Order: sequence, then structure tokens, then C-alpha cells
Amino acid sequence: MLQIKNLHARIEDGAQILKGINLEIKPGEVHAIMGPNGAGKSTLSSVIAGKEEYEVTEGEILFQGENIIEDAPEERAHKGIFLSFQYPVEIPGVSVTNFIKAALNENRKANGLDDMPAKEMLAMIREKSEKLGIKKDFLSRSLNEGFSGGEKKRNEIFQMMMLNPKLAILDETDSGLDIDALRIVADGVNTFKNEGNAVLLITHYQRLLNYIQPDYVHVLANGKIIKTGDKSLALELEAKGYDWLLN
Ligand SMILES: Nc1ncnc2c1ncn2[C@@H]1O[C@H](COP(=O)(O)OP(=O)(O)OP(=O)(O)O)[C@@H](O)[C@H]1O
Ligand SMILES: [Mg+2]
Repeated sequence: MLQIKNLHARIEDGAQILKGINLEIKPGEVHAIMGPNGAGKSTLSSVIAGKEEYEVTEGEILFQGENIIEDAPEERAHKGIFLSFQYPVEIPGVSVTNFIKAALNENRKANGLDDMPAKEMLAMIREKSEKLGIKKDFLSRSLNEGFSGGEKKRNEIFQMMMLNPKLAILDETDSGLDIDALRIVADGVNTFKNEGNAVLLITHYQRLLNYIQPDYVHVLANGKIIKTGDKSLALELEAKGYDWLLN
């Protein structure tokens, strides 16, 4: 589904952040990326999603066999790449429901489909929000305005479930997520996951990987993947930290 080959990227006119990333994600897989602060994890997810503040200087990103490096972020989203935000933006005056309706219909339009009939949309919103324990009044609040950390998480997972992407990239905040928020992410990912889609999960929490079974765990440090293993690698990191890998 996703093949990243020798990817180098830098901040527009700035420092080189990614220094030769190789990563292959197949349908049905969950990959976790861990690594020290400032390693380039969020940069990698932004570069996959196509954020314009980064420039790819070398290498390739293939999504379903197609090079997407020239694609705008919206085009990548329409092709089925979803990125959650480590720091979500607030959009005053646009409700949670209206935002997701617009995003979903825009996606459909780009793929040659008509708007989802209102009734079907409502039923889907109801089904997904109930699954996540989202209350009705939450759906009419302005997007992310005054949301608590857990509410932001819940909304993000709600967006993922509504948009039903092929590849979901979840960049988890380093701190401030309580055990409930971790569960929201975990339950959401487990409900979403099937043989046809894939998840790239960036996390500092070994604990989260107790709830979500990753097929692979990668360590990203200084712009490179320096080690890949299975879930036991996350446990080893928890016990030993990163230093033993860096020297
Ligand atoms: N737009 C930007 N402008 C300036 N510096 C940036 C920008 N984006 C990333 N960087 C720098 O690139 C490096 C990697 O940042 P990145 O956010 O990818 O790290 P991370 O691995 O996600 O860290 P964390 O675990 O703290 O979330 C950092 O030194 C950061 O300051
Ligand atoms: Mg980050």
C-alpha cells in the first residue's frame, strides 16, 4: 500500500530532517513508530500527507503503486490517506458535524461520487459517534474550540471512522492523554482496522501497544529508522530507553 524509499526531506529552505527513510506498509498491517523527541516522526507523517512546509529532496513515496510526491495534500486525502494532528486546529463557527460532512462529501466528489444522501449521512454519524461514546451536543460544537485533550482525540478518531481511509496515520501527543483517551484511540483503531486498510501509529506509549497489536515497531532517530522489530521491541525500549540504540 505504502512504499517509502530512501526518503530525504527538509524544512523549506531549512534543516534536513529526514535522512533516508525506508518503510513498506502492506494492507492489513499496523506499524508503530517510536523514537526520541525531535527525531522526525511528525515530520515523516506530514511529508506522507503532503504538507507544503516540507520539501522532499530525495527518494520516493508510492501509495498503491503511484508516486504521490507531486500530489497536493487534498489529493492524497482523496486517494485515502488520513492524517490526524498532534496539535489540531480550531475552526470557530464550523461544527464537528458540518466539518465531517463537508470533508466526506468532498472526498466523494473527488472520487466521482455524488454527495452522500442526508439520511445516510445522519445514520452513519449516529452509528460512529455512538460507538465512540460521543454525545449529541458535542457534535454541534465548534471544531476543536475549547476541546479537552480527550475530546480532541475522540473527534479525531470519529473523523477517521467517518472518512474510512485506506491508510490512517495517527500522530499521538506525547503527554496529557489519560487512560480513557488511550482507550478511545485503541478501540477506534481496532474497530477501524480490517484486511484492506493499514495504520501507521506514532506513539511514545508502550502502553498503547498493549491495546493495539502492531505488526511492526520501528525506531526513528535522527531522521532514520534505526531499528525494526515486533511488539517486543516496544517493551525493550520501555525498559532500556533509546540510548543503547543510538551509540
Ligand atoms: N516547520 C518546522 N520548522 C522548524 N523546525 C521544524 C519544523 N518541523 C520540524 N522541525 C524540526 O525538525 C525536528 C523533528 O521534528 P518532529 O516534529 O518531526 O519530531 P518528532 O519526532 O515528532 O518529535 P516529538 O516526539 O517531540 O513529537 C525537530 O528538531 C523540529 O524542531
Ligand atoms: Mg511529533
